[in-house]
Amino acid sequence: MAKQVKIGFIGCGGIANFHFGHYDKDKNGNPKIPEAKIVAVCDKLEDRVNAAAARFGAKPYASYKEMLSKEKLDAVYVCVEPCAHDGMEMMAIEKGCHLFVEKPVALNLDYAKKVEAALAKKKLINAAGFQDRYLDFEPTMKAWVKQSKVGFFNAYWVGGMPGVWWWRRRDTSGGQAVEQTIHTFDMCRNLFGEIVAVQAFGRRGIITDVENYDTEDASAVNLTFANGIIGTVYSGCFIRGGGGKNGIDVYTMNGRMEYVERRGVTITEPNRTISIQVGNDFGQEEDDTFIEAILTKDQSIIKSPYSEAVKNLQVTLAANESMDNGGKVIRLDGDCAKRCRKR
Ligand SMILES: NC(=O)c1ccc[n+]([C@@H]2O[C@H](COP(=O)([O-])OP(=O)(O)OC[C@H]3O[C@@H](n4cnc5c(N)ncnc54)[C@H](O)[C@@H]3O)[C@@H](O)[C@H]2O)c1
Repeated sequence: MAKQVKIGFIGCGGIANFHFGHYDKDKNGNPKIPEAKIVAVCDKLEDRVNAAAARFGAKPYASYKEMLSKEKLDAVYVCVEPCAHDGMEMMAIEKGCHLFVEKPVALNLDYAKKVEAALAKKKLINAAGFQDRYLDFEPTMKAWVKQSKVGFFNAYWVGGMPGVWWWRRRDTSGGQAVEQTIHTFDMCRNLFGEIVAVQAFGRRGIITDVENYDTEDASAVNLTFANGIIGTVYSGCFIRGGGGKNGIDVYTMNGRMEYVERRGVTITEPNRTISIQVGNDFGQEEDDTFIEAILTKDQSIIKSPYSEAVKNLQVTLAANESMDNGGKVIRLDGDCAKRCRKR
């Protein structure tokens, strides 16, 4: 058998289990990714790490330092909460491991830039968890936006509040734009290019019955892109019992495109309407591609490299900075990069 990629996981919570599903056996009992094997798993929580270890016949660890020291791993997934990126990526890079890091890749831009530089220096395969880039209709959206002059867009991530303990505080999650709507910011950058200016307004006080809650209930982030496109990204976590909206509505000279997050897209032109529903397991494709990139030593097939995640982090941290300063316009093509790194 050809070389099998040996994988270790740091963090065995919600999103790790999403990835675990892609390394499980298929309905015929064969591994979905036969070229890879999860050999070591690590979590601070005993029940989680033991369950993951039993699922894959992997070795459980309570400390990632011990895991990275003792195991000879080819690749590491980092699936910890946003505030917990305490150096694990740098240690994995030192050991020569290829790296998959869940978004947001950190809360500190300085640290994320350090990881980005170290990955580039060692030429390691790297990916970040923006799985929407692997939707089968993503190329159609990109092509349509390109052929038509875009005026502006409205984007949304509006729903309820995730139950994990760390989500409700800015210092542990980064707030909704950084932790959650970052997927939408990523798709906007993927469709429209680089962002040069960010201005944001947030409000608090809608949710009053959640203990230890300390972030915006609602925010509106105005964006200007290098090519002149403008748009607003809304975040809201205050809706109870359904009725939210996730996606992007794009208005162009040639009609309208409505992207419904991870579900489908509808394009309305003067003489026709095109509707596409998602037809692939894009999460599976994200992990398949990571392994293929490692085996073929081809970083170019990764649609969501770590460097893109760093740009998304910079945009969303700039939104926080603007919100905290009464809607001050933050330029990303100027010295904001330096300021954000210090946060
Ligand atoms: N791509 C996506 O669609 C998506 C979806 C959900 C979450 N996420 C992201 O994934 C990350 C994790 O979210 P989650 O929902 O899995 O959280 P979670 O709380 O369910 O799991 C995080 C796990 O990491 C463990 N952990 C923290 N520090 C550790 C350390 N030093 N060593 C070992 N284990 C450690 C915790 O004990 C916990 O079990 C977050 O950044 C989140 O934004 C991405």
